[in-house]
Amino acid sequence: MNNSFIIKGDFYFSSKERKLLNYNNSYCVVENGISQGIFKEIPEKYMNLQVIDHSGNMIMPGLVDLHLHASQYSFRGMGMDLELLQWLNEYTFPEEHNYADEEYADRAYQIFTDDLKRSYSTRAVVFGTIHTDTTLMLMEKLEKAGLYSYVGKVNMDRNAPDYYIEEAKDSITETKRFIEEALRRFKKTKPIITPRFIPTCTDTLMKGLAEIQKETQLPVQSHLSENRSEIEWVKELCPEAEFYGDAYDRFGLFGKGCKTIMAHCVSSTEMELERMRTNGVYVAHCPNSNMNLSSGIAPVRRLLDKGIHVGIGTDIAGGHTLSMLDEMVSAVQASKMRWRYIDEEEPITIIDAFYMATRGGGSFFGNIGGFDGGYEFDAIVIDDSTAATSKELDSVSRFVRVLNLGGECRIKEKYVGGDKII
Ligand code: GUN
Ligand code: FE
Repeated sequence: MNNSFIIKGDFYFSSKERKLLNYNNSYCVVENGISQGIFKEIPEKYMNLQVIDHSGNMIMPGLVDLHLHASQYSFRGMGMDLELLQWLNEYTFPEEHNYADEEYADRAYQIFTDDLKRSYSTRAVVFGTIHTDTTLMLMEKLEKAGLYSYVGKVNMDRNAPDYYIEEAKDSITETKRFIEEALRRFKKTKPIITPRFIPTCTDTLMKGLAEIQKETQLPVQSHLSENRSEIEWVKELCPEAEFYGDAYDRFGLFGKGCKTIMAHCVSSTEMELERMRTNGVYVAHCPNSNMNLSSGIAPVRRLLDKGIHVGIGTDIAGGHTLSMLDEMVSAVQASKMRWRYIDEEEPITIIDAFYMATRGGGSFFGNIGGFDGGYEFDAIVIDDSTAATSKELDSVSRFVRVLNLGGECRIKEKYVGGDKII
């Protein structure tokens, strides 16, 4: 596929300082899938490239969903009457167990992949299930869809029902097989080491995963400080850990030479946050999930101001929707409620949420989430004429409105790593 071209339109993206950048009626030069920057006029040396004209349309970076469970997509929007630990036992584990069945997995993962492909997301960091073969099947579908992702075969060897649990030894052997096959078969879809969370992983399993991590240098994803009962349980299970995150760090699975995403961090202590900052751990902020499961509201303004890496995750099916735009709006609303009811931290804005959903999470993948020279060209071309208004809008209002009304606009084209997938 030819992925050198020039694309014209109204560009919006975030600066490293979380400011909104806007270049109307401009050209982005893309060479071999990489942006060469945005120009008012086409530079002489690129005159021979094809121009794709989207004059009057908005172009923004694809969104990065930093945390979601593909295997839970089937029950999204249902069963949100329980808190985390009961929710896992009553809805989640029984559903994830279905992915032992290839036919079921094929159907369910196809629906998930088709919907993700149609969404504003260009990249995602995904949990499968404990089943190696159907998790590889999910990866094959994501690869075919042209999306970039990290996908994990889930590891869990305690505190789970006997129909959905592994022996530590088998979990390690299967994880090695999973990684070897995934690295051999896929280019855009990468394996990620995925201990579900401390309550379902013994020390033996964690040690085994840490060895795999050292050997392969692959990244890690898990859950952290999401729910109060969960945090109390971790204290009982790991009395030697200084705090929840330390229970991962003791095994070397918490940043610091081991790229790590921890979902939630709703109730992280100051010590935990400090360790995350110094270790470079990414937080996947999942406000819809945190509200649906009554987990709470993460201190996202504090995380950003502390200089912790923060991205946004839909956490399907704790979160009810795959829409990252919806998740961004919820992040702002949740932050406002935190400010009103919990502390005096200034709420985040939709522009902060846009930063987290693009550059913030995007940096986990590399130079992703902006149109700066050297960044991979992930882009959504938006036709906002479908969300009609009688008003004349300035550029910033037009963009903020589109973020808030996302579902009302039409995705005209979608590019991932310079390849057009819609
Ligand atoms: N903690 C451990 N497993 C899960 C899960 O599947 N979803 C959420 N939201 N939290 C978890
Ligand atoms: Fe999750």
